[in-house]
Amino acid sequence: MKTLIQNGTLVTASDTFQADLLMADGKIALLGRGLPADGAQVFDARGKFVLPGGIDVHTHLDLPFGGTKASDDFYSGHKAAAFGGTTCHLDFAMQSKGETLRQTLDNWHKKSDAKAVLDYGFHVGITDLTPAVLAEIPTLAAEGVTSIKLFLAYKNVLQVDDTTFFKSLLQAGEAGMLTMVHAENGDAIQILVDKAVAEGRVAPEWHALTRPAWAEAEATMRAVALAGMAGAPLYVVHVTNGMAVDQIAYGRERGLNVMGETCVQYFFFSLDNLRQPDGAKWVCSPPMRTAADNAALWDAIRGNQLQVISTDHCPFLYDGTKPIMYEGRPFSLPGKELGRSSFAKIPNGVPGIEDRMLILWSHGVNQGRLSLNRLVEVCCTNPAKIFGLYPQKGTLAVGSDADVVIWDPAATRTYGVAASHQRTDYNLYEGWELRGLPEKVFLRGNLLVDGDTWNGEPGGGQWLRRGAHAPIV
Ligand code: URP
Ligand code: ZN
Ligand code: ZN
Repeated sequence: MKTLIQNGTLVTASDTFQADLLMADGKIALLGRGLPADGAQVFDARGKFVLPGGIDVHTHLDLPFGGTKASDDFYSGHKAAAFGGTTCHLDFAMQSKGETLRQTLDNWHKKSDAKAVLDYGFHVGITDLTPAVLAEIPTLAAEGVTSIKLFLAYKNVLQVDDTTFFKSLLQAGEAGMLTMVHAENGDAIQILVDKAVAEGRVAPEWHALTRPAWAEAEATMRAVALAGMAGAPLYVVHVTNGMAVDQIAYGRERGLNVMGETCVQYFFFSLDNLRQPDGAKWVCSPPMRTAADNAALWDAIRGNQLQVISTDHCPFLYDGTKPIMYEGRPFSLPGKELGRSSFAKIPNGVPGIEDRMLILWSHGVNQGRLSLNRLVEVCCTNPAKIFGLYPQKGTLAVGSDADVVIWDPAATRTYGVAASHQRTDYNLYEGWELRGLPEKVFLRGNLLVDGDTWNGEPGGGQWLRRGAHAPIV
């Protein structure tokens, strides 16, 4: 099947140009002016932008966490992502204690393969590094899982010690794999949490006050230094503040292969949101910080101290006791209400997989905070390069997958839970005005989203084998 998008303004990480784009057999077949229709289905994109599909490299679909599980699965999360202009994502397959990594992957394939609409891959989150598991790490690369993740926080749950982290860095580095890290000092945080709870300080704001920016800065520097000692590449996930950015920059300035991401929510929210009566909605780790940190993150994205904007999409219902309607059926799952008696029991995580590109367009690009090319670079191209998917994904080039979004810069919408598709009962950006929306979203040439119409089919997504020895950007 052939589709021709005519007269659009194409945007890549490096260029903005007028051209037609022909898709054939799931690939971008031709780019150029005045391409003949030649039997293709034709869409006119005059006055519109044409972008590569977004890639979100940090999601948690169907994740058991915080006494419940994330409310989006590999169908509902994919549908929401597509309506937000994202066509591909990488999820964390989390190892349960005692499991082999093979079992972890099998478990995540069971959750995803029949439901997936988008193309997707896995990182493996390691929580139990036995000698056998250490030996298993290089085998992941052979099957296209080329990144691992370790947590320096969530004591007694996911947290690993420095021995585990360093051994993993060495092993992954030798196999050409990338190590990702959740960098917060979980030991110090646990002491602060226990103290706050003992003193009766249990409101949601104490989630942030017991996870100070120093805990993130310290763990970030430790991770950067250990990556330097291992001679291995490192990717720091969900960076929230200027001090943590400085640690990554310190390593990069000294030639280390370290990179970092932030997530869309960290540009816009702060401790003040946690102080609202519904502050639990903003509870995630690391926490929202300050207006100065919001500004530092924009600087870091513009200055390439950070290379990616992802979401850390890990949604929960705000009130899981009240079912919501999802595709005509009631849906409920315990959510943030689990933490009514204490911040320490609020499931950590926020929705964002649909919000990311929409919010960054209207409240980033339109506000002059980042260029359209940089938006494409940090949301599409760098994610593909860093995680071994480029040039199959992440750009508009002949031979790349035809993952393409037509954006209408003049379309407007008041955003919020009613306008979004994430399977939860709230949206962090409730009432925010959007100008510039995806009009058509194609995955491998298939029109998944056409205005408000959803054409996605469960099982239509493809699991992605990724390359090792990916570049450092
Ligand atoms: O609060 C968060 N971020 N929840 C998801 C797990 C993680 O730390 O990424
Ligand atoms: Zn994390
Ligand atoms: Zn995460």
